[in-house]
Amino acid sequence: MSRPYVIDQMISAKSIAARIEALAREIHAAFDGTDKLVVVGLLRGSFVFIADLVRELDLPVEVDFIEASSYGDGMVSSREVRILKDLRGTIEGRDVLIVEDIIDTGHTLSQVTDYLRSRHPARLKTIALLDKPARREVDFKADWIGFEIPDAFVVGYGIDFAQRNRNLPFIGQVRFTDKPVNAA
Ligand code: PRP
Ligand code: MN
Ligand code: MG
Repeated sequence: MSRPYVIDQMISAKSIAARIEALAREIHAAFDGTDKLVVVGLLRGSFVFIADLVRELDLPVEVDFIEASSYGDGMVSSREVRILKDLRGTIEGRDVLIVEDIIDTGHTLSQVTDYLRSRHPARLKTIALLDKPARREVDFKADWIGFEIPDAFVVGYGIDFAQRNRNLPFIGQVRFTDKPVNAA
């Protein structure tokens, strides 16, 4: 049995939608004239963000997914990311946008970016909905960020706590409580 917790709203669904509209305009400007933009979602956390983002993009888009898992060997600083599911399509010579839900230590997105860059895409850019710069272990900066957040335990809008709460329509902050509650 896990410790009871409640979820306080941190970023509303409305704020997320407004931010995505603005980000889509910037992405459109950056990739204007592309013959095809391959939008790559990192499973699983990005599935909600990528769904909303691509529907705001008025560009020729192909959607693909990659799944990576990070694991430690006991030393946090030497974290390695393993590819569990690779892209279906080829990206050589194509324009690529990697979509992530959150950057924490930075290991996942920086290693996946290096991995995909080795396939020689024409242009490769990265976007993350949330960024927690306070937790960074590697020097990585995404091209676009939705919101910079403090070092809080967040869930919702694709982000899980032990695989729960991904389906919340907003970003919430987990608050542990000793009182019994009906956690979602
Ligand atoms: C989470 C999150 C990012 C990554 C960020 O994924 O979705 O992908 O961790 O952490 P980092 O910057 O420290 O690497 P997780 O490994 O929990 O898998 P999930 O997306 O399937 O939930
Ligand atoms: Mn993830
Ligand atoms: Mg997770």
